[in-house]
Amino acid sequence: MLNDIEEKTEKAFKSCSTGNMNGIRTGIILGSGLSGVRNSINGQEIPFSEIEGFPAPGVKGHSGILKISQQCAVLAGRFHFYEGHSLDDVVLPVFLLKKFGVENIIITNAAGGINRSYSPGELVLISDHLNLTGVNPLIGKNNEKYGPRFPDMSSAYSKSLIEKALEIKPGLKKGVYAGLTGPSYETPAEVRMLAVVGADLVGMSTVNEVIAARYLGINVLGISCVTNMAAGILEKPLDHSEVIDTGKKAEAELTGLVLELIRRIN
Ligand code: HPA
Repeated sequence: MLNDIEEKTEKAFKSCSTGNMNGIRTGIILGSGLSGVRNSINGQEIPFSEIEGFPAPGVKGHSGILKISQQCAVLAGRFHFYEGHSLDDVVLPVFLLKKFGVENIIITNAAGGINRSYSPGELVLISDHLNLTGVNPLIGKNNEKYGPRFPDMSSAYSKSLIEKALEIKPGLKKGVYAGLTGPSYETPAEVRMLAVVGADLVGMSTVNEVIAARYLGINVLGISCVTNMAAGILEKPLDHSEVIDTGKKAEAELTGLVLELIRRIN
């Protein structure tokens, strides 16, 4: 992995750079059904299909647009490992954001709630993660220009960004996000296991992007939208359309939080 990432990043950057990008301090990656932030900022929109080296994302709810404003770069859509994308593709947007010069990334996702104190529709700040995808985006020859061979993950999620989010919304809960590959949802037994090992949230994205971001020295704020209680917690099956619908209901709150964070970060 990390094969030709420098070259790929360079090509992607050339196909989407928009003149003066000096003020872009924040990158944002929006998860399933959570693209609202994109419509609330002014800027140039570039479809992923026009960015060299970006594969077209396939999942419902992922529109695949990069929006660049004076202060931030928003990726509405991401590449999931379960779609068959390589890990290089999964983390290419993070390398691109680094090339834009971002210092902070706000990563959002839809997640299943394992912690029974959560409710569907609630936003939760990610305090830490369990990478249970069985892979790591940094496997391969290391390019010291980007980051160290063995990057520290002891504060993967920035405490100061979490504090900023809590200043805006003091009631937000925190939790540990377990990242699995999907695409099948978990079994109830797997969810019970995840609870035992310390997970509060479960999802199919984020962890590899965060590993890449930390490697690149970028601060990360992770926000999960609890779109459903994880399998087995309620007596009903999981359904992707419910994930999207619940995400839509939480979108306004997430958008408000992210816009205020961008304002305070700048
Ligand atoms: N499990 C995994 N990923 C998810 C879930 C879930 O319950 N909900 C939204 N994404």
